[in-house]
Amino acid sequence: KDTDLEPISVKIGIIGGSGLDDPDILENRKETEVKTPFGSTSDVLIEGEIGGVKCVLLARHGRKHNIMPTNVNYRANIWAMRQVGCTHLIVSTACGSLREEIHPGDLVIPNDFIDRTTKRAQTFYDGGAESPRGVCHLSMFPCFSERVRSVLVASAKELDYNVHDKATIVTIEGPRFSSRSESNMFRQWGGDLINMTTCPEVVLAKEAGLLYGSVAIATDYDCWRMGCEGVNVQDVLKTFSANVLKVRQILMKAVQNIAKEDWTEDILDAKECVCKNTMSGSM
Ligand code: ADE
Repeated sequence: KDTDLEPISVKIGIIGGSGLDDPDILENRKETEVKTPFGSTSDVLIEGEIGGVKCVLLARHGRKHNIMPTNVNYRANIWAMRQVGCTHLIVSTACGSLREEIHPGDLVIPNDFIDRTTKRAQTFYDGGAESPRGVCHLSMFPCFSERVRSVLVASAKELDYNVHDKATIVTIEGPRFSSRSESNMFRQWGGDLINMTTCPEVVLAKEAGLLYGSVAIATDYDCWRMGCEGVNVQDVLKTFSANVLKVRQILMKAVQNIAKEDWTEDILDAKECVCKNTMSGSM
């Protein structure tokens, strides 16, 4: 291990799902608009600090919540976070539960995904005139940063919250929810949670060399469970707002915990992984 490295200081991007885009969590706030080769971000970035640690907040669906999952410009959002110097991304997401033991209201730190989206750009290396050069083929094992995940799990435990410490999220295209046959199929595939945004966000974060972790709130049992009504938006929003404070506290605690550690090697490894897996065409 190289111990002569100058420590890199952290800057933490926070992408809030529905209901978690309250800029009040930041001190010394300032709004920043970032131009990206991929178009506009969902909203302005809000830069500031949490307990002295540099952070940047972005509302995934816009602060008015008017952008549906398919239309979120994931590439612009992630590119902008990198552009302003983020090293980490911690995000929140509302999910359906595909498992009896993950109850609505439970907190989950996912470690894997199954991608069922069909209409979303998944790479920055698309051959565009302003895009980074080359063709990038990244491994999705692991897709989430294991180290960020363990900080999120530890932060939840410090706050005395129960948390499921791993889960596979199925991301569907939406905006519709799943049919019962689809929901049962996803269970058979090994899915534990279901949402509409983790893919391609986690994929693009890895391509951008950002260390990414997510806090999921289970809001419903989707529609696989016999004897239950299927998922509906009112129930999702109700369960989400009843639990959003917990997520907020976990993210704020995680910011402090991340800043206590030295991430230099992880940050450099993440960037090196992208370089090594990008074919420039000139070689
Ligand atoms: N987000 C919250 N609940 C969901 C569900 N059941 N399916 C897809 N996305 C969701």
